[in-house]
Amino acid sequence: MPAESATTPGFSKLFAPGRFGPLQVRNRIVMAPMTRQLSPGGMPHEGVARYYRRRAEADVGLIITEGCWIDHPGASNDPGVPRFYGDALDGWRKVLAEVHAAGAKIIPQLWHIGLYTTAAVAGFEKVNDQLRPDQVGPSGYSGTIGVAPTLRGKPMTDSDIADVIQAYAKSAEASLALGFDGIALHAAHGYLIDQFFWAETNRRDDRYGGSIAARTTFAAEIVREIRRRTAPDFPIMLRFSQWKLQNYAAKLVQTPDELMQFLAPLVDAGVDIFDCSQRRFWEPEFAGSELNLAGWTRKLSGKPTMTVGSVGLDGELIASFSGEASHPASLEKLFARLERDEFDLVGVGRALLADAEWARKVRAGLIHTAKPYSAAALAELV
Ligand SMILES: Cc1cc2nc3c(=O)[nH]c(=O)nc-3n(C[C@H](O)[C@H](O)[C@H](O)COP(=O)(O)O)c2cc1C
Repeated sequence: MPAESATTPGFSKLFAPGRFGPLQVRNRIVMAPMTRQLSPGGMPHEGVARYYRRRAEADVGLIITEGCWIDHPGASNDPGVPRFYGDALDGWRKVLAEVHAAGAKIIPQLWHIGLYTTAAVAGFEKVNDQLRPDQVGPSGYSGTIGVAPTLRGKPMTDSDIADVIQAYAKSAEASLALGFDGIALHAAHGYLIDQFFWAETNRRDDRYGGSIAARTTFAAEIVREIRRRTAPDFPIMLRFSQWKLQNYAAKLVQTPDELMQFLAPLVDAGVDIFDCSQRRFWEPEFAGSELNLAGWTRKLSGKPTMTVGSVGLDGELIASFSGEASHPASLEKLFARLERDEFDLVGVGRALLADAEWARKVRAGLIHTAKPYSAAALAELV
């Protein structure tokens, strides 16, 4: 692996402070949201606070927490995933204090699974293709990995939609009240908000369905309500992806023009930063340009963006679900893109899960000494 140091073009940008919309960060390294399923009863405990603090102490600029449940009956599928409402907020107050004491920023990610069912993915998910009666989604269509969505569940009524919007806004309000640095919406990977984005799962003929722009209406209404219940300068990040857990090859949009139609209503609603989830950040999104999803999104929306996907690792996420280990890899391609200002922030998932010291090692030019990632790392909060 080539030695990467402060003299490599792009390197100093990774560690440069910046202001992205209303969010000020000390550097561009962001811990990507990662479910840990290690908060029994949905309550984040001291071990969770220490886990995040260790990354904050070792040079991470911003932490996006693991996905957290909003207060809605059908939102969750695992009692070990923390909630972001009720008495779980006491635990989050401690997490926040630890991370801020170590100089990093932290934003909770809000999550609702919609009509998602887990499927067989070794080392990550439990095998379960059952829908519970309280699960809801845009049109009742649900699929598991590799299986096209079929009508199996309950479509959301207008009153279901209003309740879910309120549940998101309630958690966002709590985030502001506790002193978190913003809010992140999980609108990717085939969960509820993404089920509204994706034509396969959203077959509605009211204002929430139809064109790609119309399919963003649910997300846009959530963003507007969060903005109304928080503050004009409270950072709102939204994560979206082309790929879905139900279909790794899925594409929400085929062209830059469609991407623009998708982004415009979300920008209008008040999204400050787009978190553009890819499996490999170096893959061009559309033919004829090197730009990745975050690159195109920044160019078309005029908003700051975060890239993510196999940063610093030689294997990607889906392969690691089935037990494949990933080892440290050169950041050369990342630095080249940063140098061109293709995107603003860099999301790091598994590399930071495996090694709390990852960002510090990169800063010291010692990425090759970072710990490899394997699913075994999921067993505890180290
Ligand atoms: C254990 C694990 C849990 C994850 N949980 C979430 C999650 O709660 N929310 C989310 O948006 N993405 C989640 N992801 C995806 C990561 O945020 C990230 O996009 C993905 O791992 C690719 O980045 P990486 O290659 O650096 O790991 C998870 C990934 C892993 C490995």
